[in-house]
Amino acid sequence: MGIEITGWGKCTPSAVLTNSDLESILDTDDEWITTRTGVKQRRIAEAPLSEIGTIAAKHALAAADKDPNEIDAVMMATCTPEFLIPSTASRVQMNIGNNTAAAFDFNSACSGFVYGLTTAYSMIHSGIFNNVLLVGGEKVSYFLDWTARDTAVLFGDGAGAVLIEKTNTDSKLHSSKMTCDPFLGEALMLKNFGTSMEIKDPKEGYFFGISFEGQEIFKNAVKTMARLAEEALEESGLSVDDIDLCIPHQANRRILEATAKRCNFPMEKMIINLDQYGNTSAGSIPIALTEALDEGKVKPNSKILFLAFGGGLTGAAAVIDWGGRSHALKTSNEQLPDSGKTALELVQDILNMYQ
Ligand code: UT7
Repeated sequence: MGIEITGWGKCTPSAVLTNSDLESILDTDDEWITTRTGVKQRRIAEAPLSEIGTIAAKHALAAADKDPNEIDAVMMATCTPEFLIPSTASRVQMNIGNNTAAAFDFNSACSGFVYGLTTAYSMIHSGIFNNVLLVGGEKVSYFLDWTARDTAVLFGDGAGAVLIEKTNTDSKLHSSKMTCDPFLGEALMLKNFGTSMEIKDPKEGYFFGISFEGQEIFKNAVKTMARLAEEALEESGLSVDDIDLCIPHQANRRILEATAKRCNFPMEKMIINLDQYGNTSAGSIPIALTEALDEGKVKPNSKILFLAFGGGLTGAAAVIDWGGRSHALKTSNEQLPDSGKTALELVQDILNMYQ
């Protein structure tokens, strides 16, 4: 028995927030954002997260030519859920017209997709499911303090999805390494949400913005991703040269360059699209994977290294075999309805909500 990704898709909202848009509302500039992060623009969504995830999921189902009623489980990696109950995964499940699959959300922040990939492969390997629809996506814009330049410039909204299935091939998950250092958890926090939330004056007592120690996360990200990549390669018995493509979490170009240098990984084999979307947290890897496939960069039987880090502070690395097919069986025309608003107007709506 083999296990492989047979479908893939993305949803990146159409409203584009450029660095020069941010210059008009924050004390920042394109040069600082570009040189320190590599980000040139990001997307801002008006639609609920489940709709964003649903569009990505429908593209993944089309690529695999899979009937939604045959899906065994919908798993959603997100730290910006639409509701606490029901899960965002269950809303995606509803929107694709399935009422029998298992559905659950999980939160490993930006490492969510690799945590989910490992969980999905393991549950298929154990015989619990024949397939899993794994969605990674966020609506981070809702939680950002758009008056704080240190975080506002980094993130964006979007989702990606993959269908993982049991197949009659030798494809497999070679290795997976996942970690979390809770003692560094406060370096990236969305406080006063969930049961810790104190309902006072909304301006003071509400969740508002992400508290953030950029340099601490930066250092930890490089150290952790390089270590996990080496450990995952060692466990799989593969070397850097055996890997055809690395698809990392898209947080900061400098983090990726430093990680690649530390583990002697060639930058040419690394997929980078953060200039277009910023950091979409759990959405970043499946969006980058979908684009790599669309651009013909994933060849049949490629070996792919996924790398991630994020809030927790979590980290993850996984090595998989791509299957024998890297073209979509069908395509879908599904896309989000245009909200008719510019990205700056959507940001202004969020700012107004907190006033
Ligand atoms: O996926 C997990 C989440 N992602 C991350 O956590 C990202 C990890 N961290 C990073 O990517 C980087 O640490 C940042 C991009 C956030 C910051 O880059 P840095 O090189 O570590 O900059 P810094 O925090 O040391 O700030 C340097 C200067 C400061 O000014 P002073 O004190 O030197 O006068 C900041 O106030 O840059 C200033 N600054 C800005 N200036 C213009 C901070 N943000 C901005 C901004 N525009 N947006």
